[in-house]
Amino acid sequence: MKIILCGKGGCGKSTVATLLARAYEKHGRNVLVIDSDESNYGLHRQLGFELPEDFTHYFGGKKGAYRKFDDKGYLFEDKWHISDIPDAYLTGEDGLHLLAIGKIAEAEEGCACGMGFTAKKFLENLETGESDVVITDTEAGVEHFGRGVDRYADVILMVVDPSYESIHLSEKVCDMGRALGKPVYLILNKVDGEQADLIKSTIRDREDIIAEIPSSPEIMMAGLKGEALDMDLPEVETVVSTLSGDMI
Ligand SMILES: Nc1ncnc2c1ncn2[C@@H]1O[C@H](COP(=O)(O)OP(=O)(O)OP(=O)(O)O)[C@@H](O)[C@H]1O
Ligand SMILES: [Mg+2]
Repeated sequence: MKIILCGKGGCGKSTVATLLARAYEKHGRNVLVIDSDESNYGLHRQLGFELPEDFTHYFGGKKGAYRKFDDKGYLFEDKWHISDIPDAYLTGEDGLHLLAIGKIAEAEEGCACGMGFTAKKFLENLETGESDVVITDTEAGVEHFGRGVDRYADVILMVVDPSYESIHLSEKVCDMGRALGKPVYLILNKVDGEQADLIKSTIRDREDIIAEIPSSPEIMMAGLKGEALDMDLPEVETVVSTLSGDMI
């Protein structure tokens, strides 16, 4: 199963990716987290791992990925499984690994399109077995939809924080996800009772809300300190059971 997490900046995508990855790991699944955010450096810390080497380096950098595709007509000659990823591009532990597509390293190095292209081609090429769960944490906003990354996910999870922008972005994400024929679910995050009620009364796709994660001082403090996050939240279990009931 391939899951993509999306949402507006700071809504909690990386936090939910981490909590979900840990939950699936505890269920005995073989989890690969893909960091496809070219700017932020939070996810590997939340997982408690080192940041792995940029996967774009495997192709000689983001421009190398385009060059190879232009020369050969493919980026990956054969289908890959999680076990085919070279160790140099992974950090983590048994049952839970992190791969980072790449980060912007220098001023004026050029746009991040080559990273989006690599993420898309990798997800397209990656074959998942029954116990594999691939969780892709995206950059803020909907650029990944424009780049075509979401086409290669089985399910799209949008994290909605209590903000006007999130509520309205959810309509766009639901529409774009469904246009691709994908199930889209909404996870409210950082919401307390009154806010959750207000969101549920105003958001268009309220029937697609599958979990409401409360605002948690523990999560916030871990985020502030850059510490690893490993909490068992019933709301995250609800996401796991919804997806397993619904999907693969
Ligand atoms: N349920 C929560 N309760 C309290 N704080 C939270 C919660 N979820 C996330 N946070 C905090 O909000 C901040 C943003 O979270 P996170 O980095 O996961 O968001 P993001 O959507 O991945 O951000 P970006 O768009 O920058 O990648 C972090 O400091 C995190 O600790
Ligand atoms: Mg993030």
